[in-house]
Amino acid sequence: NQLELELEAIEKGGYDHFMLKEINEQPRSIADCMRGRLDAKNGRLVLGGLRDYMNKFQNAKRIIITACGTSWHAGLVAEYLFEEFARIPVEVEYASEFRYRNPVVGPEDFIIAISQSGETADTLAAIELAKSKGATIFGVCNVVGSSIARATHAGSYTHAGPEIGVASTKAFTAQISVLTMMALKLGYQRGTLSESRYMQLLSELETIPSKVERALKLNDKIQVIAEKYKDSRNFLYLGRGYNFPVALEGALKLKEISYIHAEGYPAAEMKHGPIALIDEEMPVVFIATKDSSYEKVVSNIQEVKARKGKIIAVVTEGDDTVKHMADYIIEIPDTEEAFVPLISVIPLQQLSYHIAVMRGCNVDQPRNLAKSVTVE
Ligand code: G6P
Repeated sequence: NQLELELEAIEKGGYDHFMLKEINEQPRSIADCMRGRLDAKNGRLVLGGLRDYMNKFQNAKRIIITACGTSWHAGLVAEYLFEEFARIPVEVEYASEFRYRNPVVGPEDFIIAISQSGETADTLAAIELAKSKGATIFGVCNVVGSSIARATHAGSYTHAGPEIGVASTKAFTAQISVLTMMALKLGYQRGTLSESRYMQLLSELETIPSKVERALKLNDKIQVIAEKYKDSRNFLYLGRGYNFPVALEGALKLKEISYIHAEGYPAAEMKHGPIALIDEEMPVVFIATKDSSYEKVVSNIQEVKARKGKIIAVVTEGDDTVKHMADYIIEIPDTEEAFVPLISVIPLQQLSYHIAVMRGCNVDQPRNLAKSVTVE
């Protein structure tokens, strides 16, 4: 009825869809997530939930991350973070697989369960299984008081605020923010991260909300790109290192809300299969920021160009090389390599949003999907 419609319009805060509102909220939701925890000037980083379990965490033989969907992608980013900064081996498991394969897990393992809703049945079951084997379980949830938050030994909330759009956006960047803080803290405590490097990383982390704000300004350009490729039947997303999980997430966003088939791949794996798909009808989204794998990704771009694929590239501001090869470039602010996913995912969220709107899809409630999956 009329009242409900008006209420919904108010909740959307002037945006056409919740998803767009949530994409645009990210400078604030990331800041909210770090508020009271990160104080770079004084070299302080405190995660309340971690305090009682820091010992266990620091001495863990292995970290196992379990999650589903977008939260699983945040887990993949965390694998790179924990291994780089804290030098503890990490495994990232789909909760649905982990729970059914009699996994080797025990008291020396530290399990991190990531879930926006805190109600995902598979993730909850994976937690119960690991718990029964004596492992310590740490939750990274958005919904306060949710089942997963209650089932874990300890945890840190993401504080992203309610996420209504079925396709996860601000919860994803908040999850990565929490996991980044955890990895930095752990690395510092274990001595695998020097004091000076730690301080440097903390300062850079504090600049992320304003860099996300800047990335959001690319919206108009992304609308132009969306218009151009909205009728494509397939999309390929390629990235390496920290941007590999971002490629998976970009592809998932597009599939979820626009129903276009999309695949995310590590750029170097292209030659082992996906390259066969490239022709003049295939848009390929490269995440090619200036980092340790940049040169290699540039060669992959050349390979796609040689096969007449259409290239949309997310690059670091001021990039001069990719500009000459790509059909479209999207320039995002520079940051530490480890923090790039927080920024590089933004234009991919916007791209999928605009394509879905242009195709007339129900962006906030895509067909066949649910915000939280409480059944197997
Ligand atoms: C559903 C949602 C996804 C979400 C996944 C995991 O499939 O549609 O957006 O990533 O569940 O949800 P969770 O609440 O555990 O993060």
